[in-house]
Amino acid sequence: MQTLRLIPDPAGLAKAARLLAQGRCVAIPTETVYGLAADARDGAAVAGIYQAKGRPSFNPLIVHVADLSAAQAIADLPPQALTLARAFWPGALTLVVPLRTDAGIAGLVTAGLDTIGIRVPAHPVAQALLRASGAPLAAPSANASGRISPTTADHVLHPDGGLDGRIAAVLDGGACPVGVESTIIGWQDGRPTLLRPGGIPAEAIAAALGEPLAAHHADPSAPNAPGQLSSHYAPQSALRLNAAPAPEETHLSFGAPGPFSLSETGDLTQAAARLFDLLRRADALGRPISVAPIPDHGLGQAINDRLRRAAAPRP
Ligand code: TXA
Ligand code: MG
Repeated sequence: MQTLRLIPDPAGLAKAARLLAQGRCVAIPTETVYGLAADARDGAAVAGIYQAKGRPSFNPLIVHVADLSAAQAIADLPPQALTLARAFWPGALTLVVPLRTDAGIAGLVTAGLDTIGIRVPAHPVAQALLRASGAPLAAPSANASGRISPTTADHVLHPDGGLDGRIAAVLDGGACPVGVESTIIGWQDGRPTLLRPGGIPAEAIAAALGEPLAAHHADPSAPNAPGQLSSHYAPQSALRLNAAPAPEETHLSFGAPGPFSLSETGDLTQAAARLFDLLRRADALGRPISVAPIPDHGLGQAINDRLRRAAAPRP
């Protein structure tokens, strides 16, 4: 695949919007770092992000929207979140808030969680593209997995650790003025919590709230107390991997038909796009779940990583 370098004039923005509408991935400038964007409502397009980055696991992604009202169509912003949105949007602040069930966001974006990371970027090119496209855009940093976040279009296309030939296009908006990722705030036990330091100082956020920020605690061995942010979706039901279908179980098939088929044709992109939605729907039936073997290459590695975590013994 040839990666286009697009100038952010009206024609370049229209081309980028068209590619996104076709389910392609486009690298876009934001004030923090370049993001690798896809339509957050299109699970296969979001799977394409992981494919291009070669990311071996699925983490929840940040969704970018044009303004506060677009954010409220996707997420419920509690009063403190609204205070922060009004103080710092557009800007380098991501809020992890409850996802609206009618939002139409692909399960892969939130990795099956019922919260979503959402942000209104300030960069004029990101703003122009969000308005031209009308789509909420899921976008992690536009680098190959494990590499440094890009702050120029040249970084995005760099032969070492870049995505040239792996994505449809990069929209060249020059150097990112902030240069580090957004600050991420969530709520743990009802308290505002710094989940990731970033472009907006924690002190400024605490000042806007009139309350200190709690420190993030994510001890995977600790019991999942109610209200504690769990960063990975785990089903309630027992989960058996690399399994053949058995009676009394809900079976997630692969390369075979069925009501819970990850992909009838054995397509890993389709399986990634369906994974979290199928897990949730299977879990809702309240029976043990089994999952067919998934090939451990390409997106299959990320699928298997998530399945292993979901199947791990719980405290
Ligand atoms: O500045 C930025 O934030 C850049 C630009 C492109 O906007 N984006 C970025 O995205 O850094 P990403 O995907 O690399 O970072 C996502 C982070 C992850 O650490 C993830 O755990 C956290 O956000 N996150 C997203 N949604 C979450 C959720 N529902 N619950 C907890 N953490 C979440
Ligand atoms: Mg990153």
